[in-house]
Amino acid sequence: MRVTRGTTGAAVAASVLLALTGCGGDGDGGGAAASDEIEVFTWWAEGSEKEGLDALVAVFEQQHPDLAFVNGAVAGGAGSDAKNVLASRLQTNDPPATFQAHAGAELTDYIDQAQIEGLSAMYEEKGWTDLFPEGLLERLEHEGEIYSVPSNIHRANVVWANPAVLEEAGLEPDATYGSLDEWFTALDKVDAAGKIPLSVATDWTQVHLLETVLLADLGAEAYNGLWDGSTDWSGPEVKGALENYAKLIDYTNSDRQSLDWPDATQLVIDGQAAFNVMGDWAEAAFATQDKKFGTDYVTFPVPGTDGVFDFLADSFTMPVNGPNPEGTEAWLDTVASAEGQEAFNKAKGSIPANVEAKTDDFGAYQQTAVESWSNDEIVSSLAHGAAASVSWLTDVTAAVSKFGSQRDVAGLQQALASAAEKHAAE
Ligand code: GAL
Repeated sequence: MRVTRGTTGAAVAASVLLALTGCGGDGDGGGAAASDEIEVFTWWAEGSEKEGLDALVAVFEQQHPDLAFVNGAVAGGAGSDAKNVLASRLQTNDPPATFQAHAGAELTDYIDQAQIEGLSAMYEEKGWTDLFPEGLLERLEHEGEIYSVPSNIHRANVVWANPAVLEEAGLEPDATYGSLDEWFTALDKVDAAGKIPLSVATDWTQVHLLETVLLADLGAEAYNGLWDGSTDWSGPEVKGALENYAKLIDYTNSDRQSLDWPDATQLVIDGQAAFNVMGDWAEAAFATQDKKFGTDYVTFPVPGTDGVFDFLADSFTMPVNGPNPEGTEAWLDTVASAEGQEAFNKAKGSIPANVEAKTDDFGAYQQTAVESWSNDEIVSSLAHGAAASVSWLTDVTAAVSKFGSQRDVAGLQQALASAAEKHAAE
């Protein structure tokens, strides 16, 4: 059975009430009706992202036919709306059975607020510690305890390009660019040809673009230093990166504030824009529209970031006082399983976190990600919870948004430096 939260509002409300009054469906007879429902909270509500979730749910339903998936998704790329809804639900003791959280600093937020359960015993019992790369497990851990189950690995520093638009502008369709400066020359040509050189969308996608520019200009080591205090946010390197970011924004579509990532990527798919910088969930948008890698679209690392994999991973949690811990465990079993990871990641554009999952039949773009993940240097994404806490990211996003209207590079640098000062020690 598959239901959406909207259609089962009464049932979910009843299960919340039962959980609050301590009469949950754990065999005490009080809440049997609600006990087979598993509300899974994500922001994969629409389009290609929902197709990824659907693929995972199909495996869940096959592995656990006795349980009912309840879709608690809240739309908005990168969880721009979902995270607020989730925060207020957690504060009012109304957690879903499980929710999506990024590996890294974002997960630490939930741990610090005692909102999610430790899962080390479950990992031990099920042998999961051998299933995931050590570097990833470290980002799911706090003081020796593991707190979530990773479902995927996404790459953030990818440029998606339309070869026909490039040719029209006199550019080689398979060219990659060694530096941002080389890329600016290409962007000028697209501009002269009358197309949008670089598409972008609302605030969080601008933060996403900014993080890749910081990575390009600072290099992996100094980029990592932004998150542990060893790189100076007020220094000349960051200033140079922000100037390049400002330049890039000048090449973007003017309606950006009213778009989310699928719209910006669609501009490339439809041949209205040449380039889009987006995480590899964009792969799913191309794939679901039957676009062929190498012909209808090409990809390359953001200029200046070749050899680096800007990483993020979605993971699923066991909330404290969750309505149905056994059901949550069943969902986590599916998430961890090779079968779940193969189906989900193939559709999502990402690569499996589970090292036993097979990727032979994944698409051509995804093969490049598999290769890069195993050979390249790995750094943590800012816009997707790996590098900085939710509160730090919120301050960065506000600064980037303000920059969008005021175009004050010095003001942006100052705001980013004070955000770092405020949050780095947290
Ligand atoms: C990221 C998430 C991805 C994808 C993306 C766009 O934060 O990790 O799985 O959903 O947002 O919404």
